[in-house]
Amino acid sequence: GTSVVTLDDISTSQIRELLHRAQYIDAHRKTVAHTCDGRVLATLFYEPSTRTRLSFETAMLRLGGQVIGFAGAQLSSVSKGESIADTLKTVSNYVDVVAIRHPKEGAALVASRAASVPVINAGDGGHMHPTQTLADLATLQSRFGRVQDLTVGLCGDLTFGRTVHSLIETLCRFGHVNFVLISPDELKTPQYVLDRINATETCSYVEVSDLAGSIGDLDVLYMTRVQKERFFNEDDYLRLRDTYILDADKMRLAKPDMAVLHPLPRVNEIAVEVDDDPRAAYFEQVKNGMLMRMALESAVIGDKLPGYEPLQQEEV
Ligand code: CP
Repeated sequence: GTSVVTLDDISTSQIRELLHRAQYIDAHRKTVAHTCDGRVLATLFYEPSTRTRLSFETAMLRLGGQVIGFAGAQLSSVSKGESIADTLKTVSNYVDVVAIRHPKEGAALVASRAASVPVINAGDGGHMHPTQTLADLATLQSRFGRVQDLTVGLCGDLTFGRTVHSLIETLCRFGHVNFVLISPDELKTPQYVLDRINATETCSYVEVSDLAGSIGDLDVLYMTRVQKERFFNEDDYLRLRDTYILDADKMRLAKPDMAVLHPLPRVNEIAVEVDDDPRAAYFEQVKNGMLMRMALESAVIGDKLPGYEPLQQEEV
């Protein structure tokens, strides 16, 4: 099986295959309940998580497999100074697949090189979060029937928001997307992500700082949390954290079929009143995250889903 450190590790047709696989899983939950019988997933989480860890684990349990791991490194031998590489060489003896979250960019790559089983990046610092992107793509697919020919606004912390970097990188592979990058000057999109857009012939971007002035153009508004844990200076965080708050007044300026996405957790950046708006898609993203992790875990292990016909003969 393939390790997934970024979605560049799998082909565009394999991503389409995973979207198709997740739809099948959703419609055939009982049929797939023993797909991963006898398999074990390790979740190695060196950084806090609610959705990602619990959905990786639920995904394996719903496929019939089992789960080990740690949430917070303080109870593992990491607290004694053990390296990521040694941890992965150890855990590879126990399990069939590993999901790892770590505060440092590049940690998942180091882990994948040391491991002898597939490693899935569950978030590495401010870099990438590929399984969140799979959840985001599934949500766009279900809302619009496509993941291209869209104007996608990304709003908030575009410097440290790894979900934003992963999503832009991946949407650039699917065709025509106009990105509207909405952030304060201090939290603009890193150059390596802009270079990715520039390298396409089909995608474009504008950088703006005004949400109310740009929301009317958007098919998708991807809100993000200001990533407190990545700031060096608490005063900067406190000054920037409430720059954008999406509320019912701003939603009135948006298209009637715009979709609001957010990887969650949110703090203040989406008012709770927006949750009841049919355009709010962020709890759908949570469900899609679990389904996409079921698709990915079974695919990288190489377990076939009973009754499933692949979209094309290109398995992950
Ligand atoms: N979206 C996401 O990664 O959430 P958690 O940090 O709770 O896992």
